Amino acid sequence: MTSADTDVATRLVDEARTRLERCATLDELRSAEAELVGKRSALATAHRALGGLPPDERRRQGQLLHQARSTVEALVAERRQTVARAERQRWLEADRLDLTEVLPGPRRGHLHLVQRTRDELEDVFVGMGFVVAEGPEVETDWYNFEALNIPPAHPARGMWDTFYLQIGEPETVLLRTHTSPVQIRVLQEKRPPVYAVMPGRCYRRDTPDARHIPVFHQIEGLVVDHGITFAHLAGTIETFTTAYFGPDIHSRLRPAYFPFTEPSAELEITCTICHGAGCRTCSQTGWIELGGCGMVDPAVLGAVGLDDEEWTGFAFGFGIDRCAQMRHEIPDMRILLDNDVRFLRQV
Ligand code: DAH
Repeated sequence: MTSADTDVATRLVDEARTRLERCATLDELRSAEAELVGKRSALATAHRALGGLPPDERRRQGQLLHQARSTVEALVAERRQTVARAERQRWLEADRLDLTEVLPGPRRGHLHLVQRTRDELEDVFVGMGFVVAEGPEVETDWYNFEALNIPPAHPARGMWDTFYLQIGEPETVLLRTHTSPVQIRVLQEKRPPVYAVMPGRCYRRDTPDARHIPVFHQIEGLVVDHGITFAHLAGTIETFTTAYFGPDIHSRLRPAYFPFTEPSAELEITCTICHGAGCRTCSQTGWIELGGCGMVDPAVLGAVGLDDEEWTGFAFGFGIDRCAQMRHEIPDMRILLDNDVRFLRQV
């Protein structure tokens, strides 16, 4: 073995060591690794040159290069650990909330954005002559489904992924999947005329993503009176939309199916992000779906003993969290549940 050969291997390792010490981030380390042991590295070039040497010489130098490569790889692994640890430390520092921090002056808490949105929505409807009603979050199958014209095993049940509770007979008690059961409770309590909105928490077995959370809020509306028509429904929705979102946001109704209304419609509003021009949030349509609505199905009036020859009505239901998301341009709904004070403080 000549000292010149050893020198080449040692030099490569030394150079690698210096190069690696300069890497402060995992990204930098990745490019250094490619440079040091990748296809275009000095090591790889030296390895390729072995082919031109006599066999003995080739074996000897091959061994040296192999050793050098193992050493460099070990150095990279070692550096990766150090850099990763430092990166995580920096990230933790940046993300840290100092809960002991004393701020000048009293800092008062405030209502959560969802609660505030709910209050504002209620105010708009109260201004239009509606009363506010509430119902339980734990419901029976009868209120949540059957009285709303969704019989057991009806395929429409697939529209709601339900959390059932282990109380009584299987699948008889559940976490309400929408606020529509409160329609039934209101009509049981009070004979028409009824003009009511019913806000509250709902639950669905949904996987959380940017537009869905398994615990969410809806506001339901119900009007039952003499001579109520679809025009009353459309007018109410449009009045609400401009009152809550502003004069340049409008509503439109598109045919849909819900078991408890006939005819039924999907309620859409002008996309509040692009104001109707078309953007990613609204899939370039200019419209955003808020909920559903329609004329109360005679079967629902029948379930609470009302004569559908005498009374007609309309109903609607939409997401409160979705309204907050649209009005405040919140890209990911999951942040509403995170309780991160940096978000809570902003709104
Ligand atoms: N309950 C429906 C849902 O959560 C929304 C809905 C649609 C409510 C139509 C209504 C209605 O009152 O008429 O999917």
